[in-house]
Amino acid sequence: MGLKDYSRRRFVKQNSLAGIGAAVTMSISPTILAKCITDTGTPAILGGEKIRTKEWPGWPMWDPAADEEQVVKVLRSGVWSRADLVTEFEKKWAETIGSKRCLAVVNGTNALIASLVQLGIGGGDEVLVPPYTFIATVISILQTGAMPVFVDTDPETFQIDCDKIEAKITPRTKAILPVHILGLPADMITIMDIAKSHNLIVVEDACQAWLAEINNKKVGTFGNAGCFSFQNSKNIPIGEGGAIVSDDDEFMDRCYSYHNYGNPYGTLIGTVGSGTVMAGTKMRITEYQAAIGLAQMKRLEEQTVKRNENAAYLRARIKNIPGILPYKLNNKVTKAAFHLFPFRYKKEEFRELTRSEFLKALQAEGIPASGGYTPLNKMPYLKNVLETKNFKLMYPPEMLDYNKFMERNQCPVNDQLCGEAVWIFHSLLLAEKSDMDDIANAVDRIHRNADKIKNNNLK
Ligand SMILES: Cc1ncc(COP(=O)(O)O)c(C=O)c1O
Repeated sequence: MGLKDYSRRRFVKQNSLAGIGAAVTMSISPTILAKCITDTGTPAILGGEKIRTKEWPGWPMWDPAADEEQVVKVLRSGVWSRADLVTEFEKKWAETIGSKRCLAVVNGTNALIASLVQLGIGGGDEVLVPPYTFIATVISILQTGAMPVFVDTDPETFQIDCDKIEAKITPRTKAILPVHILGLPADMITIMDIAKSHNLIVVEDACQAWLAEINNKKVGTFGNAGCFSFQNSKNIPIGEGGAIVSDDDEFMDRCYSYHNYGNPYGTLIGTVGSGTVMAGTKMRITEYQAAIGLAQMKRLEEQTVKRNENAAYLRARIKNIPGILPYKLNNKVTKAAFHLFPFRYKKEEFRELTRSEFLKALQAEGIPASGGYTPLNKMPYLKNVLETKNFKLMYPPEMLDYNKFMERNQCPVNDQLCGEAVWIFHSLLLAEKSDMDDIANAVDRIHRNADKIKNNNLK
């Protein structure tokens, strides 16, 4: 049997017998199939030709002709502090998300802090949070004075493991902070049920999950508040920026106040002596940020659809490669955001090629990828915070014992996931479907040549 025949048979077998859906099988055209089965070359890391030589779509995207008019208008107007365009951005984002209100703030981190604080979370409270997230999620809890309590991760969805939430609830637990990490929705139906039965606040960290949905409802609208980030790498990039959404008018009025020095809701920007009502801070975004955001918002829906289509196609292409376990979406998810496309890498199926060796080989093929997060429940910042003056004033000594904290916050599944995850950045999903084949073919090539790579390249 020739190599081509072998590859063809292997492909057909894996994509029919192993249960690939009929719709997906049918969506792979003969041309693409031909491309899939002819890729048998030497891995680039061993001197072969790169699979991918074309550039991937860059990020952020910007179309001067379509996007710049309003930004330039703002710059020339001299009205740069918060005014009408920020309000317009908020209205549009609330509408887009299906929420009554939106407040734009300086970034996602502060959106989370403001939400937690204005929902009454503070010193002495515990907040349940997954460790598989960006550090800002945990920092936001610590900034309020509350104690993060880590709930282990479900390795298939990469999200908080809902079956492990209730075991972590104590009399101090006041809130759950689920994160729709990588843009894949956490199971908000189950989380809201748990929250309801234990009378807990829910703040959704949707900082990576713009337009993602569960049962056709956008994430960020399930909990008491939803928080978004518009930082430069995000699917709506503004450079920096964030938003809080909620249907609760009183809460949103308080957030507004908090983001504007504690001045009462409705106070004009720039007013002094307005009868400050709370110890607020300043979290306002500028008019030129809003102008950039409005331009970016226009392309979000179309890009999100494309990411979903390409992710589904790529998933189908790689899921039968031994040792590659792509993300799963729980069955209530109707749309994901795919800030990242994740899969787990099992080195046992790759002749013990380590993940970092695999990533190097993938990079050599022209496919940028990363290993993602390291466990957030095990880092020195936690020891540091437990030793602060404020924490000593707010918690009994047994809660500040670092070893006990570490013991209580073990998340072994997350530890393993952090060692196995591979991420592909969302802008690659904005290339064409045929470009997804380059990714799949590179993974497949590394798999077929894992022994050679292990023996020849990395001694
Ligand atoms: C999951 C998550 N939470 C919170 C944040 C914080 O957002 P920002 O960077 O806008 O402060 C980020 C952004 O990187 C994030 O990815």
